[in-house]
Amino acid sequence: MARKVVAGNWKMNTFVSEGIELANKIKVADLPSDVDVILAAPYTHLYALQREIISYPVFIAAQNCHTHESGAFTGEISPIVLRDLGVTQVIIGHSERRSYFNESYEFLRDKMIAALKVGINPIFCCGEDLGIREAGKHKELIAEQIKSSLFQLSDSQVKKCIIAYEPVWAIGTGVTASPEQAQEMHAFIRSLVADKFGPEMAQNISILYGGSVKPGNAKELFSQPDVDGGLIGGAALDADSFLSIINSF
Ligand code: 13P
Repeated sequence: MARKVVAGNWKMNTFVSEGIELANKIKVADLPSDVDVILAAPYTHLYALQREIISYPVFIAAQNCHTHESGAFTGEISPIVLRDLGVTQVIIGHSERRSYFNESYEFLRDKMIAALKVGINPIFCCGEDLGIREAGKHKELIAEQIKSSLFQLSDSQVKKCIIAYEPVWAIGTGVTASPEQAQEMHAFIRSLVADKFGPEMAQNISILYGGSVKPGNAKELFSQPDVDGGLIGGAALDADSFLSIINSF
């Protein structure tokens, strides 16, 4: 069985003090024991979060990392330093990084390998923009994104990954994929995993939906058989909304 997961992607939001307050509210809440809760905070917050706030069952994630552990990469963030800060997951391949920072399939593959090497598990994102969906090419693109990056990893590496399907047209727009659209894509992604790595891996890998998930639509989305949880942007910045989503299974 795939683990249920709700991950909050704070993106480039909150002051450190606000992030600590938000994480504190989540930590002290009565969290369901069968849901992994992950907070993907800005780099600037991670040290404070790890020292002051976080313990199981809340995990801290980074929103990105570099392919190298050290060296002349001005402005980049080392996966091994993230690990040292208590980071357990990292978002790789978010559409905002693919489009604004031109991250290639190979670069994403190498980041995942670098993260896994130091014990950080990737949350690998895929998703199509509106033009691709309207052209009916969304499955083709998702298959390409997954095959070109995630499927370049070994069995034992993929086992540690989470997949997040985030249609770009639903991110931050208030337009969410319908439960049927989400289910269709999640089942498709699971079938790709099954074809490449076998049915057991496919059953056990968590596939999250992301894109305008709110307390009002989370239950319906999470009730789909292939939706194992969510990657939440805007609604993760409000403790009550995020907690309501965590309790939507
Ligand atoms: P929203 O929930 O704000 O649409 O963002 C989704 C997302 O990009 C999470 O990574």
